[in-house]
Amino acid sequence: MEWLRIEGGRELRGRVSAPGAKNSCLKLMALCIMASSECTITNVPSITDVDTMCDLLRAIGAQVVRQRGSTLSIDPRPIACARLPEQLVRCMRASVQVLGPLLARFGEVQMPYPGGCPIGSRPIDLHLKGLAAMGAQFAEEHGLISGRANRLVGTEIHLDFPSVGATENLMAAACMATGTTVIRNAAREPEIVDQQNFLARLGAQIRGAGTDTIRITGMPELGSTAYPVMPDRIQAGTYMIAAAATRGDVTVTDVVPEHLEAVGAKLAEAGAAIIASEDSVRVVMGDRPAPISIKSMPYPGFPTDLQAPMAALLTLGRGTSVVTENIFSNRFRYVDELGRMGAQISVDGRTAIIRGVSELTGARVCAPDLRAGAALVVAGLAARGETIVDGVEHITRGYDGLPERLASCGAHISHTVDAPEAASFDS
Ligand code: EPZ
Repeated sequence: MEWLRIEGGRELRGRVSAPGAKNSCLKLMALCIMASSECTITNVPSITDVDTMCDLLRAIGAQVVRQRGSTLSIDPRPIACARLPEQLVRCMRASVQVLGPLLARFGEVQMPYPGGCPIGSRPIDLHLKGLAAMGAQFAEEHGLISGRANRLVGTEIHLDFPSVGATENLMAAACMATGTTVIRNAAREPEIVDQQNFLARLGAQIRGAGTDTIRITGMPELGSTAYPVMPDRIQAGTYMIAAAATRGDVTVTDVVPEHLEAVGAKLAEAGAAIIASEDSVRVVMGDRPAPISIKSMPYPGFPTDLQAPMAALLTLGRGTSVVTENIFSNRFRYVDELGRMGAQISVDGRTAIIRGVSELTGARVCAPDLRAGAALVVAGLAARGETIVDGVEHITRGYDGLPERLASCGAHISHTVDAPEAASFDS
């Protein structure tokens, strides 16, 4: 058993750094499959999803060495099979990102449908359709996808939706396809730009990431590189929201402020002062938040991954806020848990109506998924009294050192992996 214990009601004050981004690092690791020799990735977050991706790559034969600190080296040369073990693939959505690289490099892949956070239906039809347009053939039997591609050929692909994962898989495959691929209605998330930068360092001919049209001219072979993962804008955004929820004053460092503009704008609308510098963002909040409405959208819109933490903040609003989730069909699973802490939220389809209360009270709650877990932590930090957050294994999938980073700003929070009586506070 694992849980977090939070003694809430303390203002967060100080500086906290953002680690490398989970949602880029996992994809960079998958891209290493296409490298000609060992690649080194730095600024790797210490999270269990990275451990799972290490295991997945090892399972197909890659040599993966987790060095001390935040450095990882991946040598794809020993990869001997393209059949992915079911148990690992089911642990994590990002396992689907090996699809494009394996097809491009080895011409075959066998994998079950990927798992991941239970936040609604998460098909991979756009990944398969795009790869099929490049010449791959897929068969599905007993939940297993088998893909083959004697030769991938560049083509024009128009995505029905700017899917982050599909854009990344198609970019990867196109780098080793014959000819030129154009991906239209591509996702524009900063993580896509990070993938492009990494691929360019491998020698790929790729441009356009960050816009809705990406052009790639394939090469028969790619090289290798050393590359630092971009900062985690979702973890940074979580600390910004936590600062506002506790009416604190926190500077989040090692970030790209431009990536945090959507969350900064909404926090400002709620009454926070946002002070951005070259690589940090300071959030100062002196009052309960003003009620606002947010709608999750593809980048540069408000990120779906911060919808739940933002909703936790708005439970303390001075009026009624409206939160609309436009990306995933089931991303309000935290609502009942926040209700245990005194939040007043009703959900109608994709919209949550949040009637602000003057105070939350600590309670025992359970994280149903990663970002919902972060929302419960934000609420626990702001609540009066003690909150226990169970389901911590969801949080450690994607947050590197969350209790330690929050404690460095004055939070009373401890992570326990034992019996409840053994828990103690970091001061
Ligand atoms: C990535 O998921 C992230 N995960 C998610 O973060 C993030 O919420 C999401 O992008 C949006 O920003 C990783 O990077 C590992 P999508 P992904 O493909 O790639 C539909 C977190 O908490 N869709 O852009 O899976 C899909 O159902 C996670 O860190 C299809 O219909 O997101 C969803 O409604 C959660 N068919 C929408 O598109 C497809 O083939 C967006 O999905 C693919 C997607």
